[in-house]
Amino acid sequence: MSIEIAKEAIASHNWESKDWFGGCVANFKYITPSLGVKWYCNHRMADKTYAMQKLAFQHGLAPEPLQKFKIEHRIYGTLKAYLTETVDWIPGEYITQIRKIAGIIHSADMYYKYGLRYLKTEEYIILEQKLWKLFVVDDLHGNNVGYMADGRLVCIDFSHFEVR
Ligand SMILES: Nc1ncnc2c1ncn2[C@@H]1O[C@H](COP(=O)(O)OP(=O)(O)O)[C@@H](O)[C@H]1O
Ligand SMILES: [Mg+2]
Repeated sequence: MSIEIAKEAIASHNWESKDWFGGCVANFKYITPSLGVKWYCNHRMADKTYAMQKLAFQHGLAPEPLQKFKIEHRIYGTLKAYLTETVDWIPGEYITQIRKIAGIIHSADMYYKYGLRYLKTEEYIILEQKLWKLFVVDDLHGNNVGYMADGRLVCIDFSHFEVR
């Protein structure tokens, strides 16, 4: 049932779709507050991030990736997608999320002026250290982490990671 809803949502995606969140490689939409769908044009990237998210999930470091499937889009062609557990992420407010993580950043100005991107809270550092044990970590930042319903900080974007 969820797959049918996800397929319909993907089939009607266009670049004006405001209820989709996108980075460089993935597109994400909430189906329910706890279930979402991600699709990729790049099938190898979809397979890679799925496998890595699964490994991270088994260590409590990511939301659970669920069913994977293919879907035909009238413009984009065949896409690879998967259902996933969601995190609480602050859409479109990169700086707010960074601030939440750093706990001490007061403005976007400060962020850019002093490069405070690298100030991290303890929970962020612990997540980072655990991820490094499994992966060569890259592109980990406030936009690529979020909170599970039980309050755990986890990673959602594995596109720049490599498995050790
Ligand atoms: N499991 C998830 N729960 C909630 N939001 C997500 C989830 N996965 C991705 N997103 C949203 O989709 C965006 C793009 O996904 P991401 O995996 O970071 O792809 P990219 O590699 O393109 O940056 C994220 O920045 C976030 O807003
Ligand atoms: Mg990302």
